[in-house]
Amino acid sequence: MPVFVDSAPSDQVSGLDPAFNERVAAQLEVIEERLREAAVADTQFVTEAAQHIIDAGGKRFRPGLVVLSSLLGPDADPDEVVKAALVVELTHVASLYHDDVMDEADLRRGVASANQRWGNTVAILVGDLLFSRASSIVADLGTDFVRLQAETFARLVQGQVAETRGPQPGDDPLEHYLDVVAGKTGALIATSAVFGGMVAGVGADVLNALDAYGEEIGVVFQLSDDIIDIASDESGKTPGTDLRAGVPTLPTLLARRSARPEDARLRALLEAGPATETEVSEALHLLRSHESLAAARAEIGRRAEVARAYLAPLPAGPAKDALSALCDAVISRSA
Ligand code: IPE
Ligand code: IPE
Ligand code: MG
Ligand code: MG
Repeated sequence: MPVFVDSAPSDQVSGLDPAFNERVAAQLEVIEERLREAAVADTQFVTEAAQHIIDAGGKRFRPGLVVLSSLLGPDADPDEVVKAALVVELTHVASLYHDDVMDEADLRRGVASANQRWGNTVAILVGDLLFSRASSIVADLGTDFVRLQAETFARLVQGQVAETRGPQPGDDPLEHYLDVVAGKTGALIATSAVFGGMVAGVGADVLNALDAYGEEIGVVFQLSDDIIDIASDESGKTPGTDLRAGVPTLPTLLARRSARPEDARLRALLEAGPATETEVSEALHLLRSHESLAAARAEIGRRAEVARAYLAPLPAGPAKDALSALCDAVISRSA
């Protein structure tokens, strides 16, 4: 059973209505099966490589959002809900294959990354295959879905490029970081919420609310992921990957702003970028007890409430409650 958010199993996120929870769980199970099928290719080798990261699990946060927001209306066609969920998860998984090449990551979802196991070329091409599968499926949903999927993918890719290039002269590093996060993560999570609403046939005001909510909760989700990269040894990824890759995050950006003399060593490590594994460990150790981590957590709490406030126009009911509960779950995963 997919967990949705690592701090809370899906039945807790969905709330207290057992019939509603069962509906959500049943749809997520169908999605699991269909995800594996979508990765079947012409040869056993490609199938194995394409199913590798899908089979390794993951929270299925984006399909979960599709399912929850599809339950805002009474008549979402279950087959369309499943297809919309497959599109966002396949796009996400494909971006993970590529991201692990770019970040030179060895571990993903608790298993060897595809690049570690088969090399960069296979990881990139298998990522492309999964994108192509997302494209085939989204075609069944119609041109509005295709257009939004394409625009979302363009934002994700440009977020990744902006992260790789870093802030340019005159850019504020913190603003640059938040723009990167909105692009690489916020866009697809926003689209997940919107896809569910589209399938359910909700009106424009609810769709706009889902878009704003999804983008904000998506940014919060990435901010908490960035804390987990520093603070957790149990994420299924290698701690300090952002530090090694020289990717700035909210805690490191805040720490670099500190003028306190006792932060001089941490500032120096972050400014130069830790060069050895000993320096990565030292930077992680210093960051774990640094006040910038608490400040980043406070920002997560603040922005999760902003996300929740966007839900105001939604019709009252278990789906709205579950989307609201997701705000709490995203706060607690990195608390
Ligand atoms: C990882 O996404 C990349 C980010 C955008 C933070 P998830 O945290 O949703 O990863 P899985 O799908 O659960 O593995
Ligand atoms: C995730 O970026 C964003 C995408 C995959 C588009 P990260 O590099 O921060 O994610 P993790 O930590 O590797 O999952
Ligand atoms: Mg990465
Ligand atoms: Mg990355």
